[in-house]
Amino acid sequence: SKPHILITEPIPEKAISYLQKIGEVTVGEKGTYQSAETLINDISSYDALLCMLSTPVSENVLRQGKKLKIVANFAVGYDNIDIKAAQKYNIKVANTPDVLTEACGDYAMGLLLSLSRKLKEAEQYLRDGKFNGWEPLGFLGMELRGRTLGIIGMGRIGQAFAHRARAFGMKIIYHNRSLIAPEIQQKLDATYIPDHKELAAKSDVLSLNCPLTKETHHLVDEALLKLMPEHALLVNISRGAVIDEEALANALHNNIIAGAALDVFEEEPDVHPKLLTAPNTLLLPHIASATHRTREAIGMLAAKAISSVLEGKPDPEIPNLISR
Ligand code: GLV
Ligand code: GLV
Repeated sequence: SKPHILITEPIPEKAISYLQKIGEVTVGEKGTYQSAETLINDISSYDALLCMLSTPVSENVLRQGKKLKIVANFAVGYDNIDIKAAQKYNIKVANTPDVLTEACGDYAMGLLLSLSRKLKEAEQYLRDGKFNGWEPLGFLGMELRGRTLGIIGMGRIGQAFAHRARAFGMKIIYHNRSLIAPEIQQKLDATYIPDHKELAAKSDVLSLNCPLTKETHHLVDEALLKLMPEHALLVNISRGAVIDEEALANALHNNIIAGAALDVFEEEPDVHPKLLTAPNTLLLPHIASATHRTREAIGMLAAKAISSVLEGKPDPEIPNLISR
């Protein structure tokens, strides 16, 4: 009999059609599988799960997945999946690296440009009917040339952002679990700073591009924010919980730092109420990888990981199986 595949919510059609050729596919409705409960109830009839970063794939879910062979996350970050439990139950896990790197690099640069040039406030000013002619002193922002971009998490996406920022004349410093390859470091003229506190103190712009782990949870807290320069801007396209949002909101309200662009939040879809009223803050609904091309590529990569596992022929073109 054909394997049963659950896709937790609608994804690009090409990936759904691909999976329909190898199994019986169920596509859930948006919201249905955002709680572990519904997943625990339904998972036992499926051989494969294609889920979102908003799907909590906990140990309980994996234990109930009696037939489950693979969980493919429609995302590069996989902090929503209990990897240890997956290994324990011999369930493979896949993510979607590489295919979203450039879209995320573009987006980080876009957030930084919008934030540093106050585009949101200026546009609102115009729409509010306040534009009374060209102003020599209106909406003065921070120019990027010669400024220092500090990147926490210098993986593929961090490097993509650094590459773009170099074209804008920024200097690159970074913190990472390990040094990056010397040829990449040289190409980006990037300087490794072993201590993330020192990095924060030296950054005109601090960018978070690390995975969410025990080590990075609330890495940006009150103490770190106090080390940042007063004119500093913060960009986060990683995971919300890398920041202590209460501390950040207070820092923004009290001019401890000058602004933040946030694509991700600790309790998505909820946003900390104090962030909603913070000055110079861009708040966006987790859309860093949201281009037609990239979302289709994410779907296909996840689908191919599923087919390779269900058909028992690991494909060397699939670099994304995390647990084997
Ligand atoms: C998006 O946040 C992803 O991890 O792909
Ligand atoms: C601005 O529009 C300028 O010409 O300097």
